[in-house]
Amino acid sequence: MRKWVNGRLINGNSIDLGVCYYPEHWDRSLWAEDLERMLAAGLKTVRIAEFAWNLIEPEEGIFTYGFFDGFLELAQRKGMQVIFCTPTATPPAWLTDRYPEALNADREGNLIHHGSRRHYNYNSPVYQEFCRRIVEKSASHYGQHPAIVGWQLDNEFNCENSEFYSESDTDAFRTFLQGKYGTLEALNEAWGTVFWNQTYTDWLQVDVPRKTNTDSVNPHLQLDYFRFISDSVCRFAGRQAEIIRKYCKDTDFITTNGIFGNIDYQRMSRESLDVLMYDSYPNFAYCLDDYQENDLMKDRKWSRNLAEVRAVSPNFGIMEQQSGANGWNTRMEAPTPRPGQLTLWTFQSIAHGADFISYFRWRTCNFGTEMYWHGILDYSGRENRRLLEVTEVSHKVKAIQEIAGSVYGAKVGILKDYDNIWDCQTDRWHARVDGVSQKSLFTVLQRAHVPFDYVYLDRNFGKMEPEELKKYDVLFYPHAAILTEERMALLERYVAEGGKLVMGCRTGYKEESGKCVTSCLPGLAAGLTGTDIPEYSFVAPDDGKVMAEWDGQRMEAAVFNDLPVPAGENAEVLATYADSYYAGTPALIRNRVGKGEACYFGGAFALDTAELFVQKLGIGEPYAEVMEIPAGCELAVREKKGTKYLFVLNYGKDPAEIVLKTGLRELLAGEIRYGAQVLEPYGVRIYKIDI
Ligand code: GAL
Repeated sequence: MRKWVNGRLINGNSIDLGVCYYPEHWDRSLWAEDLERMLAAGLKTVRIAEFAWNLIEPEEGIFTYGFFDGFLELAQRKGMQVIFCTPTATPPAWLTDRYPEALNADREGNLIHHGSRRHYNYNSPVYQEFCRRIVEKSASHYGQHPAIVGWQLDNEFNCENSEFYSESDTDAFRTFLQGKYGTLEALNEAWGTVFWNQTYTDWLQVDVPRKTNTDSVNPHLQLDYFRFISDSVCRFAGRQAEIIRKYCKDTDFITTNGIFGNIDYQRMSRESLDVLMYDSYPNFAYCLDDYQENDLMKDRKWSRNLAEVRAVSPNFGIMEQQSGANGWNTRMEAPTPRPGQLTLWTFQSIAHGADFISYFRWRTCNFGTEMYWHGILDYSGRENRRLLEVTEVSHKVKAIQEIAGSVYGAKVGILKDYDNIWDCQTDRWHARVDGVSQKSLFTVLQRAHVPFDYVYLDRNFGKMEPEELKKYDVLFYPHAAILTEERMALLERYVAEGGKLVMGCRTGYKEESGKCVTSCLPGLAAGLTGTDIPEYSFVAPDDGKVMAEWDGQRMEAAVFNDLPVPAGENAEVLATYADSYYAGTPALIRNRVGKGEACYFGGAFALDTAELFVQKLGIGEPYAEVMEIPAGCELAVREKKGTKYLFVLNYGKDPAEIVLKTGLRELLAGEIRYGAQVLEPYGVRIYKIDI
């Protein structure tokens, strides 16, 4: 990853606010006043141009720069910073009409038409050339403009649709596979095409996944297809970044926004980005079509997404932070954020490492698909409650500038890798266990106030050092079906040097191709976990919940049960099944290795199970000596140079009480506080601890 130097945002020295603006949606006469009002509200950066191809190339090969020259000149005069975007998320009608090969297609090969957005495919050589040219023209023309502080590539790669089935994708998929396998024989072997007579005898027979006679296509093909999509997006982003770098100032960063499916963001960042930005819309939890009354997390779930963002960029930006109700004309009916929620969600982002927050959007568009997707202001632009709240947020952010550059502090990690993420998308058995465990672990760690990181075992980081894992006391790798020698070697060193590793059922039963291993289960994890699995089964529906007992405490072994037995002299049984025909047999094995230990649990982690693990591992409430916090509030920790900043966030619409057991400076009030404190609904507090 290139490091941009002396950047004006996300530079470790300040936390800043901005807003998304669409000068093309408003009469020019409004621009100056809009910019002045933004600045008065503390919003010092605007993001522009991500859907505005026609304003730079209104006809094929005709380039006009006046529109954004005018806007940038005004921005500079007013002292507004600008993030400029490449417009490739929305190819013009003149382009796709003349060159339909630029369009994406559905699984059956039908073209996806003009009229919405993100209707292109990454692999069309024609579209790639148009993109190269519009990026080159934009970057060479605007690249040195003093108002510009950074560049956004495209807009939300893979949003709306993360699968591609155009003819160009098929061609590129073949090239990708030729690079990976070399020969058709090797591909046939890796995909097990002898099964159901799928053997390929010519590369031209190999296709992207198509509609088949069952709802399944060869699973190994499907897994490689997800890898291929990621490769396509990363290369598409890389080409744009390379061009921008030729023209932009050294102080300007390159970013993209959002986290979506089928993209290896670790790779994209390494190759093309200086920093990743995220689009945070916690109000989705309150849309009528998504609302789940019994969900313990609701908008707090966005902290899970933010943990994913900081797994890529420890300090990141929020390019689009919710500021109004969600709504398209075709979907999403959502309430306006309540007083305080906009503040809460802004600090939720900052708590996880965001040093730049840009609201979506300044004024709500009064036409088009997103007429109900509200910005800070409504259609008229009149002063309103949300603008007043944003202005207050900007004062609060001024009070916490010392936090800039600090990063999230966690002692617990949840390991991830893209092979397993994408395998879950191809394999229902894998998805069933992983879905349950990921949700429970997040919920339980949140409610027990355990700061945790997602840690990616990135194959391209082959060199990942055990040191990077060593900062975690405990690592969960819940259901890594696909294991590799390289990842296991890393984990073996982590455990030997004192780490605690927890794995769950269905670990190690697959190779990289997605084929099941023929060695005894849990495959490559057998040695480290001291476990042998002679038998396994889905939990039978007529068994109800299968429970296990650990030192007299009960926990569910959810969804699927491996029946593990200890193997080796350091392995011992910690818990046994209490139900079904395997009642009394081991459910949890612990293996001591070097200075650490690895555990193998036979089920998926239900909520109560994750809770018991947190209790037994002794990782719950790590700040109990400093404060007592109710489960409904999040605790997030940022730290730098001997100082910790403890964020307490109340997601409830009722007040919450916390108790400080020692006197602590609260940064927003600028005062020392001690004892019982009442957080108002959606209230935020930030306490400073010097260590
Ligand atoms: C994001 C997107 C924006 C806008 C917003 C509200 O996904 O980047 O352009 O569409 O959502 O829908």
